Amino acid sequence: MSADRNIDNLALIGFMGVGKSAVGRLAAMHLRFDFVDTDDLIEKRAGKSIARIFAEDGEPGFREMERQLVADMAGWRQRVIATGGGLAANPANLQAMKQHALVVCLWATAEAIFARVRSQAHRPLLHGPDPQAKIRALLEERAPVYKQADVLVNTAYRSVPEVVQQVLHQFNSARQRPVGGDKPHAPARH
Ligand code: S3P
Repeated sequence: MSADRNIDNLALIGFMGVGKSAVGRLAAMHLRFDFVDTDDLIEKRAGKSIARIFAEDGEPGFREMERQLVADMAGWRQRVIATGGGLAANPANLQAMKQHALVVCLWATAEAIFARVRSQAHRPLLHGPDPQAKIRALLEERAPVYKQADVLVNTAYRSVPEVVQQVLHQFNSARQRPVGGDKPHAPARH
């Protein structure tokens, strides 16, 4: 385990539709931190929607914007950061966020995710003929990286305020007793 980490921010990672933005907004209110959503910030910086970024710059272009944003986060303090579902699937992004944030992964099954996102049309990765199969495949591919988070919080059968309570509890205890460094380790499950 490396030296104690700085836990200046709270980062929420996890698959599309697990509730990162809703949980992040409420957690930020409780902590009196600023709330930042990486997709919103990227849209503002690029001056176009995520859908248009994917259409015009391709997924690699979008991933590069995410990478640049992660580099900027190093100077952030007292922010709750809700990340786009693919951002922390890049291990380098996840490790970089661990330098300044407690990284909490919100977890849900592929079925629960599909139920939540099926009525929403703004996610380009789910525009294919079989979004449910795509969710299953992507979730399986990303799970090993998501599980490198400091804490995993299961969102099944929990309301947003209940998930927020879990997340805040983890964040407050980590700030009192800093978690270990950048070595992969089994995250606490809650
Ligand atoms: C993506 C998730 C989206 C958004 C983009 C790509 C992904 O964010 O960043 O459509 O790769 O999982 P949400 O997780 O907020 O839906």
